[in-house]
Amino acid sequence: MTKVIAINGSARKDGNTAILIRRMFEELENEGIETELIQLAGTKIRGCTACMKCFENMDSRCVLEDDIVNDCIGKMTGADGIILGSPVYFSDVTAEMKALIDRAGLVSMANDGLFRRKVGSAVVAQRRTGAMHSLDTLLHFLLSANTIIAGWPVIGVGRDIGDVNKDDEGIARAQNAGRNMAWLLKAVTG
Ligand SMILES: Cc1cc2nc3c(=O)[nH]c(=O)nc-3n(C[C@H](O)[C@H](O)[C@H](O)COP(=O)(O)O)c2cc1C
Repeated sequence: MTKVIAINGSARKDGNTAILIRRMFEELENEGIETELIQLAGTKIRGCTACMKCFENMDSRCVLEDDIVNDCIGKMTGADGIILGSPVYFSDVTAEMKALIDRAGLVSMANDGLFRRKVGSAVVAQRRTGAMHSLDTLLHFLLSANTIIAGWPVIGVGRDIGDVNKDDEGIARAQNAGRNMAWLLKAVTG
């Protein structure tokens, strides 16, 4: 079965970023695509130590085994589509999401491109500013990993949990992104 994994880099579980991702999931599930959400909130996660052991070991894993990153890498590798979501923190993604990007990105490079030709999409929630820069960060990772981007990514506006539900355009964008992702997944997986 075709599967999409989404990773939410928010420090808040089930917040605005998760709400937008779940709106995408509704569209994907309507097309018979399996979905799974991993939320980094409350988990221990650290950045890349630049040990470069992943290039020696070439086992599709990071040598730092004491956090959630290898689980994420495994789920991303096993999925057909990858959604990365983050709230805007000081005009960029959260520290948790950047840690995942750096480590999953290097492990992917060390192993001949673990995520290449998967379908990618990105989601950000912002209160007021910084969404484009944050999307750039997410899309640079997805493009450098040679994923195929499923059209226009998602920006939702809101501060408190649930505020994005009042952002009609943001919700419509999430639904549109979900439909685009489903269409592209069907095209590439046959
Ligand atoms: C540390 C921190 C920094 C933030 N920086 C920004 C910012 O630069 N621009 C912005 O529009 N919102 C900023 N916000 C607000 C969040 O992006 C916003 O509340 C978002 O909806 C949170 O999504 P979540 O519920 O998925 O965590 C910041 C929030 C926090 C906690």
